[in-house]
Amino acid sequence: MPRCLVLFLVVGILVLPFWWFERKSPPPPKAADLVGEVHDDSGPVADAIVRIKGTSTYTLTDDQGRFRLSAPLSGARITAAKEGYYIAGALVSDGPITIHLKKLPDGDGDDYTWVDPTPDPASPNNCGNCHKAIHDEWQRSSHATSATNPRFLGMYRGTDWQGQPDVGWNLLKEHPSGADVCASCHAPTQRAIRFDEPKKSDPFHALSKPSGVHCDFCHKIAGPGTGEFGLAQGRFQLKMQFPEAKRPDPHQLFFGPLDDVDRGDDAFSRFQKDSRLCAACHEGVVFGIPVYTTYSEWLESPAGRAGQSCQQCHTTPTGRLTNIAPGHGGIKRDPATLGNHRFFDGNQLDMLRRSLQLDAKATRDPEGINVEIALTARDVGHRIPTGFIDRQVILFVEAYAGDKLVKAERGPLLPDFLGSQEAGRPGRLYAKVLKDGDGVSPAPFWRADPATLRDTRLRPGETDRLAYRFPPGADRIRVRIVHRRFWKTVADEKRWPSDEQLVEEREIKPS
Ligand code: HEC
Ligand code: HEC
Ligand code: HEC
Ligand code: HEC
Ligand code: HEC
Repeated sequence: MPRCLVLFLVVGILVLPFWWFERKSPPPPKAADLVGEVHDDSGPVADAIVRIKGTSTYTLTDDQGRFRLSAPLSGARITAAKEGYYIAGALVSDGPITIHLKKLPDGDGDDYTWVDPTPDPASPNNCGNCHKAIHDEWQRSSHATSATNPRFLGMYRGTDWQGQPDVGWNLLKEHPSGADVCASCHAPTQRAIRFDEPKKSDPFHALSKPSGVHCDFCHKIAGPGTGEFGLAQGRFQLKMQFPEAKRPDPHQLFFGPLDDVDRGDDAFSRFQKDSRLCAACHEGVVFGIPVYTTYSEWLESPAGRAGQSCQQCHTTPTGRLTNIAPGHGGIKRDPATLGNHRFFDGNQLDMLRRSLQLDAKATRDPEGINVEIALTARDVGHRIPTGFIDRQVILFVEAYAGDKLVKAERGPLLPDFLGSQEAGRPGRLYAKVLKDGDGVSPAPFWRADPATLRDTRLRPGETDRLAYRFPPGADRIRVRIVHRRFWKTVADEKRWPSDEQLVEEREIKPS
């Protein structure tokens, strides 16, 4: 074999692994000081957020729109965002970077067609096609069904579970024009309602799709409305912003909490993480009654005073979402930066269990048994229960001798209107209670006398204490906490399946 060939082979064998290694793992790009400028059509833009896309490294532009970042030399993207502009970006290159920001359109939305969330390959714009995981969470929340929820419709139209008309509470019969009021929060994107044609005046009758509180609605919210929270409601208390209908600009407009989505359709908005976004619908005085007061409860709560937003408790990251649009242009992101769309941390029952702390003890003396109970609401941003006015939390205290219920000799009892099964039993009702003109409770909010409202719900951070005395025959005490969405008498009349959630059940033996 010629010598030079041997040499060639030996050198080849020695060099190959290095060459291979080099190919497999390129050297990490060196970090360098990257400088650049952000401007719009009229000049430099100050205070823009400049970020290495998908990372936590960012800075703000100075008065002259200039920025300096320690960035990898190649491969990275730099994005710039400022409220009122589309997010824009550029690839890192040699030399200074210039990013141009485009002002947001100010379409009035008159011609806007709402995009359906449902995944459907035949409609490529549907949000769920690309945001599958977010869609699936949202679909399990009651936002998805706020216009089709059978209990809501049953109360609104006066039907029962089977759709029989004229059963029990009936809003439309008593307030034919109330439809519009309910639609502003429950069906915020339904087309204008026609009062001149009574059949068509029911926006829930022929729902245009998409219905409910859906993706495109919440992500067209640019800021708060100009009205007063509680009095201006739902879509009327929100500033909505739309892409311009006129061609040729093909761009969508989505407001979101991320400042580095530089596809040309997205705008960074701090309001997405602001409690007032929720307040537009979760605060409402309807027919003179404070039906929804979650936002004002929050303002007064320790959480509200500390600036802990609704989102911090309700859109808490699950830790499982690492890409919001996998396979459709989404990038790998820190799961701690991505919120959940179930709108509960887990589910409501999980949150109820974590936020209600029960302490109970029973002591025996020769003449009887003393039971002491303390119920505390903690780590919650409003009263418990909150939300719809008919929500209740009920604490039952049941003393048994063998399997027989024993009456209490002393201690608070449940009110009569809870129904014959529960009236007068030991326990406490935490709820808003209304009376109608004849003094009857419970009353539908649209028929209630505002002056009769009594609010016994738990306040965040406070403890309710109850003391009972039972006769000596009692040998065990059962304490139960349940959450109900509706008054049992109302739900039974409408033949709704039970919606009761058992938050806690505990048996204590007198010591
Ligand atoms: C009730 C209003 C509301 C609805 C309905 C809603 N979103 Fe959101 N969305 C939010 C809020 C608030 C955030 C910010 C959450 C956070 O960061 O804590 C958010 C965040 C996002 C983000 C940024 C990433 C993240 O998870 O934080 C994406 C993407 C998104 N939403 C898409 C969707 C899609 C798709 C749907 C429908 C399937 C949807 N949203 C429905 C309010 C809503
Ligand atoms: C063709 C795929 C696709 C469709 C359809 C789609 N998106 Fe997105 N969306 C994306 C991608 C890609 C991102 C950016 C992902 C990333 O950077 O990780 C995104 C980001 C977002 C964000 C974050 C914006 C920000 O700055 O925080 C929101 C909000 C959003 N989309 C809402 C929607 C809504 C609402 C719909 C339906 C009306 C929708 N998207 C439909 C692909 C899509
Ligand atoms: C456009 C009005 C609207 C906005 C904005 C809105 N909500 Fe809601 N929300 C509703 C309606 C309506 C329901 C109840 C629908 C039903 O039960 O039929 C609801 C239900 C809920 C529930 C109960 C969910 C369940 O599955 O039972 C939670 C929690 C909630 N919203 C939290 C929020 C938070 C947090 C925000 C702000 C990030 C927010 N909402 C923004 C209208 C809205
Ligand atoms: C400190 C955490 C925390 C904050 C902040 C917070 N919540 Fe809650 N929220 C909870 C817990 C815990 C529950 C479960 C207890 C319950 O259902 O009453 C809950 C329940 C709810 C429910 C369900 C009520 C029902 O019975 O259907 C709604 C709606 C709601 N919150 C809306 C909001 C809104 C709107 C805000 C902001 C104005 C907010 N929350 C702020 C912790 C919080
Ligand atoms: C200010 C916005 C707003 C208006 C106006 C409004 N709602 Fe609601 N509604 C909500 C919110 C938010 C919830 C959910 C609160 C919660 O989860 O406890 C809700 C929940 C309900 C529920 C309970 C649904 C369930 O399955 O638990 C019923 C019933 C209801 N609303 C009826 C009505 C009727 C009837 C009208 C019209 C007269 C109306 N609402 C007007 C915001 C509104």
